Amino acid sequence: MMKNIDLNTETDIDIREVNKIIDQYIHRTGALIAILQSIQEKYSFLPQPAIKQISKRLRIPLSKVYHVATFYKAFSLKPRGRNSINVCLGTACHVRGTQRILGKLKRELGIIEGETTEDRCFTLDTVRCIGCCSLAPVMMINKDVHGRLTQEKAVEVLDRYQ
Ligand code: FES
Repeated sequence: MMKNIDLNTETDIDIREVNKIIDQYIHRTGALIAILQSIQEKYSFLPQPAIKQISKRLRIPLSKVYHVATFYKAFSLKPRGRNSINVCLGTACHVRGTQRILGKLKRELGIIEGETTEDRCFTLDTVRCIGCCSLAPVMMINKDVHGRLTQEKAVEVLDRYQ
């Protein structure tokens, strides 16, 4: 069983890498979002030193950068796993026992919703209906949909992403 970690957002990063990304977008319309997306892609989250650097170079108050960073679900202020699990808790999935599957995954991974495993392999989240109700119960891992899950099948699926 994997353990959860206390996620430390004071990550050491090479600020020159952040500057390269900022340089690519700084003079474009919508630079803030584009830069945040690029940083998120590179680090799988938005490290605090990067946010401070963006604020400084774009001359945007830190509070505004944080506001944008926390507004969009695509951005994370905490390190995320290489694989993003989204267990569907919509009605069709709920009726077909998705809570038991979620419980099994939590026990298996040793984390709760919103947390990341210590080895950064998985981040566990829930969603409300991903439009595949006929396959209920369903979870997504990254962009892959896994349907007609049982507790055992859900664990088997995880193994493919280890
Ligand atoms: S309720 Fe789960 S996919 Fe629709």
